[in-house]
Amino acid sequence: MKHRIVLSAAALVGALLAGAGLVAPAALAVGGKAGTFDVADAMARGRYVVSIGGCNDCHTAGFAMSNGRVAEQDWLAGDALGWQGPWGTTYAPNLRAYFQAIDEDGWIQAARTREFRPPMPTPSMRAMSEDDLRAIYRYVRSLGPKGEPAPAYAAPGQQVAGPVVRFPAPPR
Ligand code: HEC
Repeated sequence: MKHRIVLSAAALVGALLAGAGLVAPAALAVGGKAGTFDVADAMARGRYVVSIGGCNDCHTAGFAMSNGRVAEQDWLAGDALGWQGPWGTTYAPNLRAYFQAIDEDGWIQAARTREFRPPMPTPSMRAMSEDDLRAIYRYVRSLGPKGEPAPAYAAPGQQVAGPVVRFPAPPR
């Protein structure tokens, strides 16, 4: 009985979010393959995983440098600060755009198989449960699109225009 009440509350929240245009209806499936949590939980859980996963430290401009004093509406829009090392120069992409452009299962596959360049924490991503990954997807999508694309990856030795954090070779 309690279970049924929880599910219908989730369906209601889902309908409200979809009605407000905050979440695409396809991202609102409850139960089954889509996960074991309801939609409201997915939002809270996604926000939680993003927060403890440190995603904002790189994917939100100014976040790490201000101890997180960036409004949630500005989270995860990417950064033009370059990360330079033997891998070349990488930029933390705009995840607000990324999650609009990929479907949920495509995201699960990317998170499980893609070899991200440093300093993206690929091992942390691989260690996440499927439910955590799905929650991230729904949460970031619900934030809506925002911001510009981050600068493109530059190969080792290639000149870049903007500021970079340079990684020295580790001591042996
Ligand atoms: C230490 C910095 C750092 C942290 C922390 C970080 N990322 Fe990244 N992320 C990057 C960089 C740099 C890239 C680009 C990697 C490349 O060029 O291959 C990236 C790439 C990505 C991509 C690929 C996007 C695209 O457009 O292809 C996704 C998705 C992503 N990160 C998600 C996350 C999530 C979710 C978290 C938190 C769990 C996170 N990142 C934490 C730096 C970071």
